Amino acid sequence: MKTPQVIGDTPTPLLLLLLLLLLRLTGLCIDAYKPVVIVHGIFDGPKQFIKLSTYITKVHPGTEVKVIDMYDNMASLKPLWKQVRDFRKAINPIMQKAPGGIHLLCFSQGGLICRALLSTAPNHNVHSFISLSSPQAGQYGDTDYLKWVFPDCVKKTVFRICYNRLGQKVSICDYWNDPHHRSRYLQSNTFLPLLNGDKPHNEMKSWRENFLRIKKLVLIGGPDDGVITPWESSHFGFYDSKETVVQMRNQEFYKNDTFGLKMLSDRGDVSVCVHSGVKHVQWHSNFTVFRSCIEKWLT
Ligand SMILES: *[C@@H]1O[C@H](CO)[C@@H](O)[C@H](O)[C@H]1NC(C)=O
Ligand SMILES: *[C@@H]1O[C@H](CO)[C@@H](O)[C@H](O)[C@H]1NC(C)=O
Repeated sequence: MKTPQVIGDTPTPLLLLLLLLLLRLTGLCIDAYKPVVIVHGIFDGPKQFIKLSTYITKVHPGTEVKVIDMYDNMASLKPLWKQVRDFRKAINPIMQKAPGGIHLLCFSQGGLICRALLSTAPNHNVHSFISLSSPQAGQYGDTDYLKWVFPDCVKKTVFRICYNRLGQKVSICDYWNDPHHRSRYLQSNTFLPLLNGDKPHNEMKSWRENFLRIKKLVLIGGPDDGVITPWESSHFGFYDSKETVVQMRNQEFYKNDTFGLKMLSDRGDVSVCVHSGVKHVQWHSNFTVFRSCIEKWLT
């Protein structure tokens, strides 16, 4: 056997330095952290994510963290498909500037915006998609949020407002999933049943392929959330018609793999993180949650 030839002399420190500089300039430096894009939830905005941004740059110095400043506070009630389109426009240039890819961290309602964005963006380069207490399988509960938006309604009657054309112009209605009015949900909800493939449509196959470009799906939530109802919706669990929670693996969209969830899971790329003792608005500022559920996926 021939011994491999040594080309030239040992590189001088100056040469090494130049090489490192070159790697950095071309964005190929392997130890650079990918940019993190944050999408806020309902009734909030960038202000609520200052702490989280600090956590990220503290553990991963040099990370570019961007909280998208759009549809803040009351504007977060705008229809979700419209928001998805505009968030995509805002995030596209960030992805293009990051050939090595980005991470997407999305809170509450933002988690649905992000999933819809990922399903409808053919060329996205998102590596980790972190869904932080998002009603991924829908929402059905009497909460303060509901009272603010529809003061005269309780969960039993909201379907009357939500499941028609006008109602669908309010973001909450786009993921309102009334287990007692399944056929009206399928017929009138123009967002979640399409996203989940509960209602078959022509784009299903391509949406699934787009979604499957992600490398990791991280689902975070817990029983003391107080807003996401049932809280298991943060992990794709949801009520059946008797309001018994059916876990993700027994959901039809999982078993049929309508949007790629089962494939991701079979690939070993779904990470579920459950924490008790965390209220809805505390998920993004709780350092324990950050350390145990988020940090490791943002490299
Ligand atoms: C799942 O597959 C079954 C059997 O093919 C079908 O009857 C059902 O409508 C599908 N459900 C969804 C949500 O795709
Ligand atoms: C932070 O998370 C820990 C661990 O889950 C929990 O015990 C604690 O109550 C949380 N604190 C707040 C303020 O949310």
